[in-house]
Amino acid sequence: MRIDVLTIFPEFFAQVFDFGIIRRAKLAGIVEVNVHDIREFAVDKHRMVDDRPFGGGDGMVLKPEPIFDAIENLLGTTDREEYASGTSVVLLTPQGTPLKQSVAKGIADATQHLVLICGRYEGVDERVTETIVTDEISIGDYVLSGGEPAAVVLVDSVVRLLPNALGSETSAENDSFSDGLLDYPHYTRPAEFRGMKVPDVLLNGNHAEIANWRRQKALEKTRLKRKDLLEGENGEM
Ligand code: 6GU
Repeated sequence: MRIDVLTIFPEFFAQVFDFGIIRRAKLAGIVEVNVHDIREFAVDKHRMVDDRPFGGGDGMVLKPEPIFDAIENLLGTTDREEYASGTSVVLLTPQGTPLKQSVAKGIADATQHLVLICGRYEGVDERVTETIVTDEISIGDYVLSGGEPAAVVLVDSVVRLLPNALGSETSAENDSFSDGLLDYPHYTRPAEFRGMKVPDVLLNGNHAEIANWRRQKALEKTRLKRKDLLEGENGEM
């Protein structure tokens, strides 16, 4: 997969993609991540990327021209009808579809070229959304100052699902949410620590019993902390 991030704060991404799974995936040639400064595509002498909203109101709106130029440069067209199949242009915005494991999985499975536009200030000129953007994604019902942290979250959730990105193929399948439940509790050595004991069932080597215990714990934890996931409200995986 190739990922291109468009932002007015490229320095924000200086190191975030250089650790752990994403770094490994980059080194293994599974993913390529490029960060582009929208300002580089601003044509006027002041390199303006935002301006006051028509009709009045607070805040600034990201101007269309630098974003159109950046997309034209990357994709050869600004008409989403003309993109190559497997190309997605995602605007990170609180108005977007809530990010779920199923959304990340859909992108990991179907997208070869992912372009992320980080929204800023009060918003992005609607003409960008109407012609360039194929999907709008939000990472939750709260306000961020910009789409940059959301872009990092999206990239991480997608890259770890790419084939061979994780050490063992099964580790993504066992994650919280992949089966619609929270994860079961984990323990490692020592078997007793400050008087706190690891549950006996995990020490007895009976794999069927262990699997059953983990399933019960996952259900219990989900019922206690995230009832909405069991009721299927807000919980489509
Ligand atoms: Cl993608 N952007 C902003 N600015 N705020 C958010 C968000 C995105 N997702 C949740 N809040």
